[in-house]
Amino acid sequence: MGRVTAQDLEAAARALRAGELVAFPTETVYGLGADARNPSAVRRIFAVKGRPARHPVIVHLHDIGQLPHWARDVPPEAQRLAEHFWPGPLTLVLPRAATVDDSVTGGQDTVAVRVPSHPIAQALLATFQGAIAAPSANRYGRLSPTRAEHVREELGDAVKVVLDGGDCPIGLESTIVAFQYGGARVLRPGRITAGEIRAIIGELGMGADPTSPRVPGSTAAHYAPLTPLSIVPAEQIDARSATLAGLGRRVGVLAWREPLAAHASVTWVSAAAQPQQYGHDLYANLRALDKCRCECILVQDVPAGEAWAAVRDRLRRAAAGSASESPQGEMP
Ligand code: TXA
Ligand code: MG
Repeated sequence: MGRVTAQDLEAAARALRAGELVAFPTETVYGLGADARNPSAVRRIFAVKGRPARHPVIVHLHDIGQLPHWARDVPPEAQRLAEHFWPGPLTLVLPRAATVDDSVTGGQDTVAVRVPSHPIAQALLATFQGAIAAPSANRYGRLSPTRAEHVREELGDAVKVVLDGGDCPIGLESTIVAFQYGGARVLRPGRITAGEIRAIIGELGMGADPTSPRVPGSTAAHYAPLTPLSIVPAEQIDARSATLAGLGRRVGVLAWREPLAAHASVTWVSAAAQPQQYGHDLYANLRALDKCRCECILVQDVPAGEAWAAVRDRLRRAAAGSASESPQGEMP
């Protein structure tokens, strides 16, 4: 488990028992955890993140055996998904058990649960012997942290314990599947694809149910850098960045190939052309571009297809949530 010792885990579990917050690695991104049975500890998460109080958080369980303490009337399809994908990057939204506090659910009649597979998350849950409520360990609306140093950058001293597990293996948040309105729906795409889920349960809807009264987590603006970010059609990325550079603008580019020509005022980050590696590096790449003091970030649009769905979703949200969709209104 690398840098985390048994003493670190004991100290983290003590902090959780004392109502304090612990940041910890999962296979997706770092979480900002609190004892899920302690409403005042859960409310501290919202204060530290600067997140609106009625947003629900995911409850992290050590194993599937704890599910009945959190959810009721679990549909057989949900049970099959849990058995197939847990521990792993799948979150299920299910009818909540009567004892689950409103601080966790945002006052809704559903609860989001998952069993993470990361060995440090697993060890922390085993040591703590309880469930951990945890959103991603970033400030509200910002990029999720995929390294311990990102958590420190985001939250500073506001969290007592940060368990350092190095780089998160997946780097994008879990796939969320909701069962609250009869059928199953994907609320957030992730590493586990819709096709893999359909292979287990058959029928599956995509996106929020339009008839649902309130669907948190589907706000378009999310996961955003501070620098204005635009998505550019793949074949136009060289011309667009060259034009802006020609106007004397400092431009950051995130592309999945090398540039055709180099420009002094263009910071070009060549990401992987393979979707899982691209997704693994995405938040770190956007953080790096955010720091290069560019006036705008241009992202080369990614290929169509299900393998890129999670990346495409995060890029669309980053564009919607960044300072402006169009750098100073001067996009060529
Ligand atoms: O990979 C992940 O899921 C990471 C790691 C730390 O586990 N967690 C994460 O949490 O991404 P967070 O809070 O940043 O995103 C969870 C999303 C939010 O958009 C939230 O609104 C949604 O899940 N969510 C939670 N409970 C829900 C519920 N009862 N109904 C609908 N959406 C829910
Ligand atoms: Mg988040």
